[in-house]
Amino acid sequence: MLAQTYTIKHAKLRQWVDEMAALCKPDQIYWCDGSDEEYNELCQRLVEAGTFIRLNPEKRPNSYLAFSDPSDVARVEDRTFICSINKNDAGPTNNWVDPRDMHATLNKLFDGCMRGRTMYVIPFSMGPVGSSFSMIGVELSDSAYVAVNMKIMTRMGVQVLDALGEDGDYVPCMHTVGAPLEPGQKDVPWPCNPTTKYIVHFPEEPSIWSYGSGYGGNALLGKKCLALRIASAVARREGWMAEHMLIMGVEDPHGQKTYVAAAFPSACGKTNFAMLIPPKEFESYKISTVGDDIAWIRAGDDGYMYAINPEAGFFGVAPGTSYKTNPAAMESCKANSIFTNVALTPDGDVWWEGMTDTPPAEVTDWTGQKWTPDCGRKAAHPNARFTAPIKQCPSFDPEWDNPNGVRIKAIIFGGRRASTVPLVMQAFNWTYGVYMGATIGSEMTAAAFGKLGEVRRDPMAMLPFCGYHMADYFNHWLDMGRKVANPPRVFCVNWFRKDEQGNFMWPGFSQNMRVLKWIVDRANGRAGAVESSIGRMPRYEDLEWKGMEDFTAKDFNKLMSIDRDVWMQELLLHEELFDKLFDKLPKELIFVRQLVMSSLWRSPEHWEMAAEAPYES
Ligand code: OXD
Ligand code: MN
Repeated sequence: MLAQTYTIKHAKLRQWVDEMAALCKPDQIYWCDGSDEEYNELCQRLVEAGTFIRLNPEKRPNSYLAFSDPSDVARVEDRTFICSINKNDAGPTNNWVDPRDMHATLNKLFDGCMRGRTMYVIPFSMGPVGSSFSMIGVELSDSAYVAVNMKIMTRMGVQVLDALGEDGDYVPCMHTVGAPLEPGQKDVPWPCNPTTKYIVHFPEEPSIWSYGSGYGGNALLGKKCLALRIASAVARREGWMAEHMLIMGVEDPHGQKTYVAAAFPSACGKTNFAMLIPPKEFESYKISTVGDDIAWIRAGDDGYMYAINPEAGFFGVAPGTSYKTNPAAMESCKANSIFTNVALTPDGDVWWEGMTDTPPAEVTDWTGQKWTPDCGRKAAHPNARFTAPIKQCPSFDPEWDNPNGVRIKAIIFGGRRASTVPLVMQAFNWTYGVYMGATIGSEMTAAAFGKLGEVRRDPMAMLPFCGYHMADYFNHWLDMGRKVANPPRVFCVNWFRKDEQGNFMWPGFSQNMRVLKWIVDRANGRAGAVESSIGRMPRYEDLEWKGMEDFTAKDFNKLMSIDRDVWMQELLLHEELFDKLFDKLPKELIFVRQLVMSSLWRSPEHWEMAAEAPYES
């Protein structure tokens, strides 16, 4: 317990903690020091409280499993608010309430909300401590589960208080599970408020207030709340970018390392891509992981953009993760990890759907009930998670800790599109790249071939995470491109295109390395492309096919084909998004759309790569 051994030098921080304690009325206050001893002690207390099950140390050393309340299993987007002073600064894609009204509501809710509980003071740094890229937050939470997860997900503890000194800036982050205890009332393993939840951001203050949930992004306030919603608003004011992107390094056989950042909407395989294992024909390439979810990007003095991953851990979706789909993620959570809402095996290990080919004969499912493969229920909740330290990832890139970040040469946008969108394209320029990012989307339902499925537009994969008006965000992207002489080259990928029979046309996973290699070569000026009306594209011979020779030029050209009518419809759908944002939408995006439309009209009804297509190298 820190307070006994450490004097808090930051008078304003001490005062804020006292004020918040007076409001929330916890039984006690606990300042986290971030040590391993503290982590172990808090985990032990969570075991005693019934929140944690200690996993078999021989199978899963120093690891724990929690089952949440069935009403508290995911981020709650409809209860998430951006309370800027002016409604129009939050924009039409965010929920907004006048900050004065919201503060009044929250003050009532937070009054006495921690009765019977401990208030944990959790000082954390998003980004390397002391780096000019980084931001410090202090989360006050009545959940020990949050404290131990924050130790894995962020740089947390004494070193952050040292960095704050006497008057450093921090983002105040209030969190309560919203379940005060009456004297003598017995606690439940996963306290939360089943009816009232608020995830609130005040971007101008800035501050965060979260009420009623103990789960993931609702409660670990460094991640989506600070590192994306608040940071995106701060970044706009300060001239940098907070993005929902992975960062990975690609080292070629000559030892040249190129870093790329990639934005895919949630549940499109970002973690898998960040830890890609190349097929054996690419053995001499090395992929390294800087981050799997968030990138903070700044303009460097040398005319390039640089990025850090502000996080220190993975909060990955467990179901579907296996030694086949993502061995690096499996290795990352082999020990020293926290699992939430996966199943418990009889020998004290974890299991989830997709982890093994054959399910175990019997497990305890995430609701605590006996589960057998034929019982008709899922053993793990589909949004079950593992919390694991990034340093345990076999592809961990030590540049993760570089206070100056890594130089980003390419940015990739992707979505899940069964139709329409080719495997890979390069934007003609930065402005067109912003257009590509602004219009990515994912099909929510399976689409019939040739017809558009229901597409959720998710600009730059930031729809649930942008802390201000989406059109101002597009403008900010355009401005950032003007700030540097060498902005990253921008690409768009789609691993999910299907044929007439509904089969995936591209195998994905490790084979994505072939596309990544072209992207990296292209960003380094080393690969050719042809120009289509919607972007630059590799020809069959521009990709490396060794080990995948049965994928023919015909297959490839079909995967890359562009149908004029389908694309016209696609562009009409882009307009739906733009109409919503019209009053602030940058003109560039309107003109780019017009330009693509006019060049599409002049292209054939069905375009496939042709030998005579204009070729650039
Ligand atoms: C996440 C998400 O959990 O994007 O990372 O939803
Ligand atoms: Mn995410």
